[in-house]
Amino acid sequence: MSGSPISYVLLTGATGFIGAHVLDGLLHRGLKVRIAVRSLHKARALKSARPEHAHMLDVIQVDDYSTATSFTEAVKDVEGIVHVASPLSYDIKDNEEDMILPAINGTKSILQAALRSPLIQRVVITSSFAAVIDIDRKGPPYFTYTSTDWNPLTYDQAADNNSSAVVAYRGSKKFAELAAWEFMEQEKPRFDLVTLCPPMVFGPFVHPVERLEDLSDSISKLWEIVDGGELPVARVPFWVDVRDLAHAHVEALLRSQLRSKRYTIASPDRFSYQKASSIILDSFDWAKNRVLTQTLHQDIDESYGLDGEEAADELGLSYHSFQQSVVDLVAQAVQMESDLRAKSTSSQSWGCRAQSPSKCLPSINGQS
Ligand SMILES: NC(=O)c1ccc[n+]([C@@H]2O[C@H](COP(=O)([O-])OP(=O)(O)OC[C@H]3O[C@@H](n4cnc5c(N)ncnc54)[C@H](OP(=O)(O)O)[C@@H]3O)[C@@H](O)[C@H]2O)c1
Repeated sequence: MSGSPISYVLLTGATGFIGAHVLDGLLHRGLKVRIAVRSLHKARALKSARPEHAHMLDVIQVDDYSTATSFTEAVKDVEGIVHVASPLSYDIKDNEEDMILPAINGTKSILQAALRSPLIQRVVITSSFAAVIDIDRKGPPYFTYTSTDWNPLTYDQAADNNSSAVVAYRGSKKFAELAAWEFMEQEKPRFDLVTLCPPMVFGPFVHPVERLEDLSDSISKLWEIVDGGELPVARVPFWVDVRDLAHAHVEALLRSQLRSKRYTIASPDRFSYQKASSIILDSFDWAKNRVLTQTLHQDIDESYGLDGEEAADELGLSYHSFQQSVVDLVAQAVQMESDLRAKSTSSQSWGCRAQSPSKCLPSINGQS
């Protein structure tokens, strides 16, 4: 990375769980941020929840991330890009159309725009441990995944509609990230690329959430436990707190001594949903009347590891504990549930006549 320090950044995915934390990290470092969003409604909610930073935050609407010119306007004047957005809903009809192509084309489109913009010094992309893991590889002998590993899925396997949406997601993250590295190889742009490959991400949320049912995929699983649901089964025992991951994005963007690089990121302590359930039961008095207490024992896979140390050393991370991450999310979500109930009751007593109960709830962060 060369040139003057980065002071203005384009961020995608700010309306989501991870991106909103990245947004806050960038703003708290005194950077000006332009967020590219599909929904202006969500952008207004994000902005009005951050009045002290409103003058440092501007919004550009990009309806479709995947055309050759999607980001032409969005990259103007910025010196860095953090590309977080990617499809993460498993409710899809077509693996390729709904998951894989939007991920690849969004990545290519933003890099093409960066190439045409002389100011860009670094691009940071949120990839995933899904792009790294080989789900058929098991210990013993013990091994550790590092940033040199790639999942062995072929494009056709991921795109096959007989493959699950989880497989499609693994393919989307692998082929989108590969497209970025191939772009760097072919185009040899002025800017560096840093990709981050986190596993499951937990912790409190700071993005606009209207209903707890709409929480992002990873944290919704913890909410299911609070809500008395059966324990989900963890696909991997690795995780990272969203605040540490956001910090990693900001450092990956700003540390001038870094060069193009890929990082895996993981907290040193492993997780299972049973561990989450025990933490909730031990930490909150109300939980014993709500959380399922008779649950199957879940083993935590210790037969292989995931390197989070290189990222910790080079990006200056000190990882939150799983206990802290779970407690902070659950306390926040339960408070939000109680606030929504209180507001719903008061709307009804003031004569809300909407047919759907959700229509009586306040809109995001008080915005209409
Ligand atoms: N959460 C995890 O456990 C986890 C783990 C590893 C990696 N990741 C990666 O982290 C990133 C963000 O995940 P998250 O947990 O923050 O997810 P999220 O809460 O679902 O947010 C996803 C964000 O991406 C945007 N987006 C989704 N599909 C899009 C598309 N086709 N075009 C444009 N924008 C799109 C969403 O915009 P709208 O608000 O308009 O829908 C939202 O801003 C993703 O790249 C994901 O693969 C997540």
